[in-house]
Amino acid sequence: MHRLRDGTTLPPVGFGTYPLRGPEGVEAMLSALEVGYRYLDTAVNYENEQEVGEALRRSGLPREEVLVATKIPGRSHERSAAVDSVEQSLERLGLDRVDVALVHWPNPSRGRYVEAVEALLECRERGLVRFVGTSNYTAGHLREVIEATGEAPVLNQVECHPLFPQSELIEVHEQLGVLTQAWSPLGKRQAQYDADPVAGAAARTGASPAQVILRWHLQRGVMPLPKSATPERQRANLDLLDLELTGDEVAAITALGRPDGRLFDGDPETHEEM
Ligand SMILES: NC(=O)c1ccc[n+]([C@@H]2O[C@H](COP(=O)([O-])OP(=O)(O)OC[C@H]3O[C@@H](n4cnc5c(N)ncnc54)[C@H](OP(=O)(O)O)[C@@H]3O)[C@@H](O)[C@H]2O)c1
Repeated sequence: MHRLRDGTTLPPVGFGTYPLRGPEGVEAMLSALEVGYRYLDTAVNYENEQEVGEALRRSGLPREEVLVATKIPGRSHERSAAVDSVEQSLERLGLDRVDVALVHWPNPSRGRYVEAVEALLECRERGLVRFVGTSNYTAGHLREVIEATGEAPVLNQVECHPLFPQSELIEVHEQLGVLTQAWSPLGKRQAQYDADPVAGAAARTGASPAQVILRWHLQRGVMPLPKSATPERQRANLDLLDLELTGDEVAAITALGRPDGRLFDGDPETHEEM
């Protein structure tokens, strides 16, 4: 369980929905809900909010049992565009309210990453959004948001996997009371699955390398959002609670981190997505 500042709990692991789309995408999301995921991560730019809504309805699960998070794109940072974006997401999802609305990328050259958060806070006031989050915000961006709004986002979703473990930013998040969510938590299979220390921890515990990596996130207080279209892997990626890594194993996996360990050139100071 992860805890937001107000005490609300989020499940240990969320489900990443990119790039699941179309009927097959709905089936994969439905299977994720059936095997036990209760947090779905989507975005306007994933172009699959309708599929998320359909999977939710077909699952028959009560609305309050599943958290849905979406993200406004870079082209919608201006205040009224951001509010419109949230309203359109709700329409596509078929929901009255989204649990978490995030700003997808800060796009610093446009200079509207604080305004975008303010717009989401306005959506929260209007009851369209339960919690406001950010994605790919740096420590500096977060501080500017706090200065302008008097509060930090409840969570910040950032690239985080063994080759790019984000140790400094996680520490800042802890100081600010911000939950860290990991995108590409498995490193899109480019992580060191078959080599030590992941392979050694897997051999010792009888878990798979992917389970070791996801458990490493949990033991660092990070909420991973793995994507899998395969029901067996979806299930395995949730089955982490009986697994315990030693402190040395956690430290050794963190030590795989490299300054150039990002999956692509996704430095939020320079990478922009509209
Ligand atoms: N905020 C952002 O800017 C941002 C950016 C990127 C991603 N995201 C979010 O993060 C989510 C996850 O990221 P991601 O899809 O890039 O990377 P990921 O979850 O690290 O990796 C997904 C890949 O790993 C495979 N996989 C999953 N479970 C596995 C297992 N147990 N054993 C072996 N392979 C396994 C999947 O294949 P199969 O499907 O074939 O199982 C898929 O190819 C996305 O869906 C999205 O929601 C956010």
